Amino acid sequence: MSSSSVYVVAPVGADQAPETTLELAARLSLPWGPITHSDSGSHFLLFYQDGCLSLQQGEDRAASPLCVDFEDGTLTYRQRHATQPEAILKAIGARHSERLRVVDATAGWGLDAFVIAAAGHRVDLFERSTILHALLQDGLRRGAASQDARVVETARRMTLHLGDSGLLASSNLDALPDVIYLDPMFPERRKSAKVKKNMFLLQRLLQDDVPSASLLRDTLPLARRRVVVKRSLHAGFLEELKPSFQLSGKSSRFDIYLTQNTSLV
Ligand SMILES: C[S@@+](CC[C@H](N)C(=O)[O-])C[C@H]1O[C@@H](n2cnc3c(N)ncnc32)[C@H](O)[C@@H]1O
Repeated sequence: MSSSSVYVVAPVGADQAPETTLELAARLSLPWGPITHSDSGSHFLLFYQDGCLSLQQGEDRAASPLCVDFEDGTLTYRQRHATQPEAILKAIGARHSERLRVVDATAGWGLDAFVIAAAGHRVDLFERSTILHALLQDGLRRGAASQDARVVETARRMTLHLGDSGLLASSNLDALPDVIYLDPMFPERRKSAKVKKNMFLLQRLLQDDVPSASLLRDTLPLARRRVVVKRSLHAGFLEELKPSFQLSGKSSRFDIYLTQNTSLV
């Protein structure tokens, strides 16, 4: 896991935090500020800003902190005004109005999971970083209390788990998911100008995070219908395994591995 230092510091803005700085620090076993060393820029701050648990690199609070915000305009706009189904929805392969059971085994900021859940599917999200898990948990808490009924319904379809998705086989999912979705982080994405702000911050936070060597191989026996892997457009196949087929977009592609598993291994 990452060796980045994360400090819990005092809230910013209107005080709507659901817990105190000390409670947050104790819950996540993190040190709390003020920061005394001069190593500015190489550590991260975690704090409530206007009630949202937010993460920011360095001490410059002018650099915008990020939080999980399922009410964010771009996400909801994508849902409501998309003329074409999101590529990810094509990739998971839902037929007509069927509702799938999906595991997002690399949850991150939960953006892909939200798009899948907003289309009506149930999503179990696995995240092994305690920081990302805490940010997601907070986003789901606010999503469930949203004024927007669609966001509330979507948040209810999302179940968050803390831990490595390598534990999926032994976790207490009562049935195999139809689809397992993987979007592991890779070094080649770090330098790309197209890497969005949230992914850039995540890459900096988790820079020592080593991708599991056999995440794909381990999940293939666990998906009833398919495993979907998100890759940057020109990256090689994950674990050098050739997919059944691919769906490509402008900057990324989905490698799809069809499976035919019917029972828990
Ligand atoms: C590239 S991000 C995923 C972004 C995500 N698709 C989104 O829409 O926000 C990868 C995330 O997967 C998590 N991760 C990587 N391997 C994992 C594993 N084996 N189990 C659980 N989480 C994992 C990392 O901690 C990181 O937060």
